[in-house]
Amino acid sequence: MFNDFFSTTTAGTKIIVTSTTETQWKSQLTQQQQEWLAQQPSPKNGAYVLLPHSNGGIDKVIIYINSKEDFWHMAALANSLPSGEYMLNPTSETIPAELLCIAWGLGFYKFDKYKSTAGEDETADAAKLVWPQGVSHTETLAWLDSIAMVRDLISTPACDMGPEELADSAKQLSKQHKAKFDITIGKALLKKNFPAIHTVGKAAADEPRLATIHWQASEPKLKLALVGKGVCFDTGGLDLKPSGAMLLMKKDMGGAANVMGLANMIMAMQLPVDLRVYLPIVENAISEQAMRPLDICHTRKGITVEIGNTDAEGRLILSDALTLACEEKPDLVIDMATLTGAARVAMGTEVPALFTNNDEIAQKIQALSFECVDPVWQLPLYKGYRRQLQSSVADISSTGSIPLGGAITAALFLNEFVDNSIDWVHVDMMAYNKTSRAGRPEGGEAASIRAIYCYIKEVVKNVNSNKE
Ligand code: BES
Ligand code: ZN
Ligand code: ZN
Repeated sequence: MFNDFFSTTTAGTKIIVTSTTETQWKSQLTQQQQEWLAQQPSPKNGAYVLLPHSNGGIDKVIIYINSKEDFWHMAALANSLPSGEYMLNPTSETIPAELLCIAWGLGFYKFDKYKSTAGEDETADAAKLVWPQGVSHTETLAWLDSIAMVRDLISTPACDMGPEELADSAKQLSKQHKAKFDITIGKALLKKNFPAIHTVGKAAADEPRLATIHWQASEPKLKLALVGKGVCFDTGGLDLKPSGAMLLMKKDMGGAANVMGLANMIMAMQLPVDLRVYLPIVENAISEQAMRPLDICHTRKGITVEIGNTDAEGRLILSDALTLACEEKPDLVIDMATLTGAARVAMGTEVPALFTNNDEIAQKIQALSFECVDPVWQLPLYKGYRRQLQSSVADISSTGSIPLGGAITAALFLNEFVDNSIDWVHVDMMAYNKTSRAGRPEGGEAASIRAIYCYIKEVVKNVNSNKE
């Protein structure tokens, strides 16, 4: 569908992307256009101006984008231009064309499946961007599809995106790429030794489950495991969330959605990877079956966990999935989760927190994330806080003894279930836009997956060149 907003022709109205301070492009304009421009209000970051042709049509479009981080302004432009074909002025190089194409496409994204007006064909008279030279059509379109998929999964309310539907979406995804799909549901989780996933999900009408995907490129250079928190709705359990905190909890499967988006990219672009995806999927609900505070929960790893708070459910389901992921001895395990409110307090909504047992990897991902404007930032896996997870009756408590440093204690908890000889990265994310901005409407959001994809691409490339 995003393909409709791009054109493979070679002609079109020029779009000049410039910062508010650059001037050299003005020499391309006619005298009349320069005068027209001089009469416009002084240029502002994100503003755009249409320059008339002497025949009355549009000759050029100027858009002011001051830095790479502002590439999203292109989304607003895409959405406001009259129909026609447009092309980037090849002289403007401040913002990578790949980013401008992603913003252009996402300018047309909307989550409107519940609107009675949905499906009305607006693509017919939409502006089209001529593919800039050097930009991969397949990769850009795969990104647009992946990001739209992540957003749709998260924004779909829990009434239509419960454990069954989320697992079905994962099944669809694996079908699309001819990957192997496996699912363990309800009581079978106990038989197959996933007690923590069962404990968290057993109160819900829609049974807890573990979905796995296995996909392998023909010559894999990296054995990668992706794990995503799939809590379709988080009421908090018996430690019930107050209404304000519960409001957005349809997004508590944002980790699973983002993992699916990243997996889609890896499979669509056929990265040379042996990929396994693990999605523990539950609803943290309340019923007579619900886990209680100070219950003791068993885990696949054999570690007993005292439930400090039933609202700390994500780390429990992840513990079983991480244990399983490590059993396959991958080179790298990455988990994504809307795990703690504390990470959001520290980082805000747009910067996921990264934890790792290998600082070198985190530093590389962090650097790449700023290059591709998909920011993540490392927080310390500070072992000094491990004692906060001590329990007097079980091997470990699921929550810290003091309500400070919550994102770190959650990461330390997960660390207990990771085989320390395996590289591990944990991403604690928001996965939701609280407000609407150009190209980023209020609702579910993809985060960190472009950065991590770049990192994986680099890793497999280096494996190649080391062998040569
Ligand atoms: N899903 C929440 C975390 C969350 C809240 C993410 C808001 C993004 C926005 C998670 O299951 C949770 O409730 N965590 C608790 C843990 C606490 C009880 C130790 C938290 O962060 O308050
Ligand atoms: Zn919770
Ligand atoms: Zn949660």
